[in-house]
Amino acid sequence: MHNAVLLSLLAAVATVVAAPGCTPKPPGHVHASTGVIKCPLVFDGRVKTTTQLADFDSYSTSLFNPDYVKGQNLKWSQIIKFPETPNAHFDNDTYKPFEVTISDESIFQNQRGFRRAGLQFQGDTNNGSPGSKGVKTIHFSLKWDAQRALNLSHEYLLVWHEAADYSSNQFNFEAGTIIGQTSLPRDTYKVLNRRNSQIWSTPILRNDWQNFAITLDFNRNTLQVYYSKGDEPLKSVTNAVSNDNSGEGQYQVGMLKKPTGTSDVVNSGYQQRNLNEGLIYGSLFVEDSANACVSV
Ligand SMILES: *[C@@H]1O[C@H](CO)[C@@H](O)[C@H](O)[C@H]1NC(C)=O
Ligand SMILES: *[C@@H]1O[C@H](CO)[C@@H](O)[C@H](O)[C@H]1NC(C)=O
Repeated sequence: MHNAVLLSLLAAVATVVAAPGCTPKPPGHVHASTGVIKCPLVFDGRVKTTTQLADFDSYSTSLFNPDYVKGQNLKWSQIIKFPETPNAHFDNDTYKPFEVTISDESIFQNQRGFRRAGLQFQGDTNNGSPGSKGVKTIHFSLKWDAQRALNLSHEYLLVWHEAADYSSNQFNFEAGTIIGQTSLPRDTYKVLNRRNSQIWSTPILRNDWQNFAITLDFNRNTLQVYYSKGDEPLKSVTNAVSNDNSGEGQYQVGMLKKPTGTSDVVNSGYQQRNLNEGLIYGSLFVEDSANACVSV
């Protein structure tokens, strides 16, 4: 037998023998994800393994706007957590997942009806952002946290693009009970178009990553959804459906929990006390999808 072959066989045997006693890898490194970003990055929201919570509090160290959109008495370092969970699809070993949480303190300005914590990419300005021109795809992966489960009797905005005049959102990616559309199942992730009509949904999984991508064509006014679970490549799950993408604005990523029992959701309604909810994010970025480039 050739020496190199013999050596690799011995190494394989050694690995098998060593496996049961091997030292567990640190959190966030427990499996190597295989997704590769092949299109130019516009905004990178992937959090490096070296990132500390306090890095979210300052412009020089955060990928996001440290001042928005959150309870004014909270810092992002109090809102974000680093959960122990394997990496998401596009997060290789140099990145780690992060969790966005909401509490009773998550009151933005005077919006007492909402509980919210929304990340905005640095550089995604409300007017003239590269994220609101041409063809762009926002990628994000989500994982449920049973310790901080959402209450699906409520409506949650998780990822959206809000128009510059704040009058509407070009799309909403949501979970839970949509106010005024209670015939839609609550236990799903849903993509709603600008008119708040659902164009796609999928059941919320409790133990696996779910990977989403939404392509916004600002020239043709269309929206297209891609999806996969675990570490599988994404597949398109809708056509490029027509949607009014005009009005520029910004992406927001995190959680906005609406109250129940009110017609004035911004300012009033019911929110439970001692709130401790969170959702785990990974593989977060916006890429340039000119020439139909979408990473899967
Ligand atoms: C992880 O991805 C980054 C950028 O996408 C790349 O620069 C880096 O080489 C990758 N690292 C590993 C260990 O694959
Ligand atoms: C979930 O929300 C509903 C509606 O606000 C509320 O009645 C219920 O108590 C909440 N459940 C929990 C576990 O807090």
